[in-house]
Amino acid sequence: MSTERTLEGKTVLVTGGAGFIGSHFVRETLRRHKDARVVNLDKLTYAGNLDNLRDVAEDPRYEFVFGDIRDKALVRGLFARVQGVVHFAAETHVDRSIYDAGEFVQTNVHGAYTLLDALRAFPGIEFFVHVSTDEVYGSRPGRAARETDPLLPSSPYAATKAAGDHLARAYHVTYGLPTIVLRPSNTYGPCQFPEKLIPLFVTNALEGKTLPVFGDGLNVRDWLYVEDHCRAVEAALLRGRAGAVYNVAGGCEMTNIDLAHRILDAMEAPRELIQYVPDRPGHDRRYAMDGSLVRALGWEPAVPFAEGLKRTVRWYAANKAWWRKVRTRSL
Ligand SMILES: NC(=O)c1ccc[n+]([C@@H]2O[C@H](COP(=O)([O-])OP(=O)(O)OC[C@H]3O[C@@H](n4cnc5c(N)ncnc54)[C@H](O)[C@@H]3O)[C@@H](O)[C@H]2O)c1
Repeated sequence: MSTERTLEGKTVLVTGGAGFIGSHFVRETLRRHKDARVVNLDKLTYAGNLDNLRDVAEDPRYEFVFGDIRDKALVRGLFARVQGVVHFAAETHVDRSIYDAGEFVQTNVHGAYTLLDALRAFPGIEFFVHVSTDEVYGSRPGRAARETDPLLPSSPYAATKAAGDHLARAYHVTYGLPTIVLRPSNTYGPCQFPEKLIPLFVTNALEGKTLPVFGDGLNVRDWLYVEDHCRAVEAALLRGRAGAVYNVAGGCEMTNIDLAHRILDAMEAPRELIQYVPDRPGHDRRYAMDGSLVRALGWEPAVPFAEGLKRTVRWYAANKAWWRKVRTRSL
């Protein structure tokens, strides 16, 4: 393990900080590190939402920059005044990537390249955390994936994320840059765009609509609460080894039909709301990762699924205006 870094007196550039996980990370970083500053670079796609950060908008340690991670001049200008980078910005919805992968290649591949290439010009930057996903390993019917296992992405989304992982590694090996790759499992919590599985099921149940379950409902996902995801990113940027890859496993594997049952039960809604729909093309059967490396950095998930789900349901029930607005805007 390398010596611990610090955020004291440092400025961190967060890309995609107006999205679901990025907005939690921005808020948590400002709360946990009183002497740190955060610059949030976000293009505000349909998934980016400044309402997510209204409570920190006036904090003098926070700055929002509207722009694209592919804008070379803008990125270089920002890199000149930060000491660390956490890269969340991405196109993230698998179904959208199946419909058209163009934006995914642009942002997830070309965007990652633009950021990494800028890093070459700023040797003072101490860390670059590239936030990837468990989906890069493809379906894992048997042994849980280790960081050294081959990447076998199945969806265009996962393929573009895997390309970003490879670039991050190559820029470490070739130029000695301090890149760290994180591969977290399926993440859920407040402020997640309601096209994703848990908020889709919760918001549909709140409106008495059906919960669409793909195929036979037996696909397995490993769930991670958003605050735990953010603490893993923090562990990696403070204590992660440059050039390393860390799987961030939630340790909570569940079939999708089980998930639908747990959501409906938690909301006291009838199971008759479940509706099986034709399977997603290329749908991975199971994601599973061995997360022992990140645990060696002192991280482990702290929020049990029942508690995370309770908080999530409560938030969507109390913030109907938030999700109705973003849902309408994205149509
Ligand atoms: N949500 C999950 O379950 C999950 C799990 C593992 C990893 N991840 C990864 O975590 C990261 C964040 O995921 P999320 O669910 O918060 O995503 P999200 O879709 O909610 O947010 C993405 C953000 O990136 C911004 N963005 C998109 N393209 C951009 C560009 N070209 N330039 C600048 N900003 C741009 C959007 O405006 C948005 O604010 C992604 O890299 C994703 O692959 C997500």
